[in-house]
Amino acid sequence: MLILGIESSCDETGLALYDSESGLIGHVLNSQVDLHRLYGGVVPELASRDHIRFILPLLDELFKKTNKDVTDLNAIAYTKGPGLSGALLVGASVAESLAMSLAIPTIPIHHLEGHLLSPFLENNQPEFPFLALLVSGGHSQLIHVRELGNYEIIGDTLDDAAGEAFDKSAQLLGLGYPGGAALSKLATSGSSFYSLPKPLISSDDLNFSFSGLKTAVLNLVKKEQPLDDAKKANIAYAFQESITDVLTTKCLKALKEKNLSCLVVSGGVGANRQLRDKLKSLAEEHSFQLFFPSLEFCTDNGAMIAIAGFFRHQLSINKNYEFSVKPKWKLTEI
Ligand code: KG4
Ligand code: ZN
Repeated sequence: MLILGIESSCDETGLALYDSESGLIGHVLNSQVDLHRLYGGVVPELASRDHIRFILPLLDELFKKTNKDVTDLNAIAYTKGPGLSGALLVGASVAESLAMSLAIPTIPIHHLEGHLLSPFLENNQPEFPFLALLVSGGHSQLIHVRELGNYEIIGDTLDDAAGEAFDKSAQLLGLGYPGGAALSKLATSGSSFYSLPKPLISSDDLNFSFSGLKTAVLNLVKKEQPLDDAKKANIAYAFQESITDVLTTKCLKALKEKNLSCLVVSGGVGANRQLRDKLKSLAEEHSFQLFFPSLEFCTDNGAMIAIAGFFRHQLSINKNYEFSVKPKWKLTEI
């Protein structure tokens, strides 16, 4: 069967085709990063308008690229939430109306489940049960994934998400928005000159807190004025050391507590090179299996929604063509 996946929850319009026999056969993406950079964050109204502008041309491009036709589709999966309501409505409207005209089912998808299942787009795939570290611009969660659809959030952020901390610290260093990848690149030319706090690293629970770390970056930036390139690189290095130490320490703690031997990392911050390297050496040292999506599928994309649709299709199908998006939606409420 052939499933079209549509992602439009925030600032990326992503579409993909997933074939149950041959896997992912094509994907296309328009990132709105340049549009929102000017404002230092995502502007919801501009996001919705850009989704409207790009979604149908992208759909045409996807079919051309894969030599498929709209009539080849057997189902359409789309992000139902959580996310920006106007942005979600664009993807949902296209999905539901197209499905209605073709008389095929739709599969509404939870955006975080898409991230969770993105490592299944790779050849080397995890097996249930596993621990998932989901680190994006909006979330920092440790999830005990018992099986498809059975998710327990065992750790969460008490304030800022990991990606948010990366973005805010990057902004303090003058790196623009979103700055996670730029900060990470800058850190490669820094060294261990400063040390920053590692919030909750030794706490008894599995929660995170990153707002204090961001404030510590702010104080260091103020103290070290005027900032030259070397100082900036050293601050980026210290920030990345702290945040990746906290994330990796909590992963190890969660694996031990839940007696799990498989860790799946997903979400935009999962693209971070240092986080990946630290987890790889921990996996060797502590003998657990480690799975990541490829870099292009760490950030928001249509492929993760298409594969989540493929998994979900086996569980339930929506044939009503009635829809509502869910801007606020807990993963445990699926
Ligand atoms: O998953 P995603 O595309 O969107 C959300 O659902 O939030 O994640 C975006 C986040 C941004 O905060 C961005 O700065 C961060 O992922 N990010 C990174 C890297 N690449 C993207 N953070 C650290 N290192 C990176 N290489
Ligand atoms: Zn996301």
